[in-house]
Amino acid sequence: MERLLHVMGSPRGVRSRSDMVARRLIERLAVAEVEALDLASTALPTFDGTTIEGRYDLIEGREVRAEVVEAWEGIGRTVEHFLSFDTYVFSVPMWNFGVPWRLKQYIDVLTQPGLAFTADATGVTGLAAGRRAILVCSGALDIRPGQPGAELDFQTAFMKAWLGFIGITDVHEVQVRPTYGAPEDVEAAMQRAYADADALAAALAG
Ligand SMILES: Cc1cc2nc3c(=O)[nH]c(=O)nc-3n(C[C@H](O)[C@H](O)[C@H](O)COP(=O)(O)O)c2cc1C
Repeated sequence: MERLLHVMGSPRGVRSRSDMVARRLIERLAVAEVEALDLASTALPTFDGTTIEGRYDLIEGREVRAEVVEAWEGIGRTVEHFLSFDTYVFSVPMWNFGVPWRLKQYIDVLTQPGLAFTADATGVTGLAAGRRAILVCSGALDIRPGQPGAELDFQTAFMKAWLGFIGITDVHEVQVRPTYGAPEDVEAAMQRAYADADALAAALAG
């Protein structure tokens, strides 16, 4: 692990529970270079209908407007930036059983054919293969693996499916649940998550 990108999926800043645990984990990992990407304060490239149609025009050699070229240059830079890291830590809050829209937007911008994956008759090849990802997933409800309601966790399942699609199979997770309820239950969840983060950092170092 040499270059680590911390993708912050929560807009809650220092009050974010997933971020608190992610920061502790990153401290323990002692990686040479760490960059934090706060999605709440980062302007992402435009990814609207014109941009999507423009992709086909560009592929098929048709002329496109300057803003379409600019949008795709921005998307290309975003993917290139993402792929310049070998390790990712994602702070991922559960929002309506899935991930917050800002994180989903980042994933939609990144997941471009030819940039993040290729597909042909033999199947899909993820271009981020060989990298490592750690998911720090938080949620108000205690639906950790093995708990009642765990089947509602589309947040962790989606993140793992997406990472696999772009080629990342070395995936680890820390669960931070429940983050709402009796203060002693929330405190116990935090302490459990910090202990899991410490154990994971030790295992990855060894
Ligand atoms: C829009 C929104 C939707 C949410 N949906 C869920 C949910 O479906 N399940 C759940 O357990 N918690 C849900 N929560 C609670 C958050 O997951 C919880 O507050 C968590 O701690 C957020 O992570 P953070 O502290 O890192 O921001 C939701 C919160 C918000 C703001």
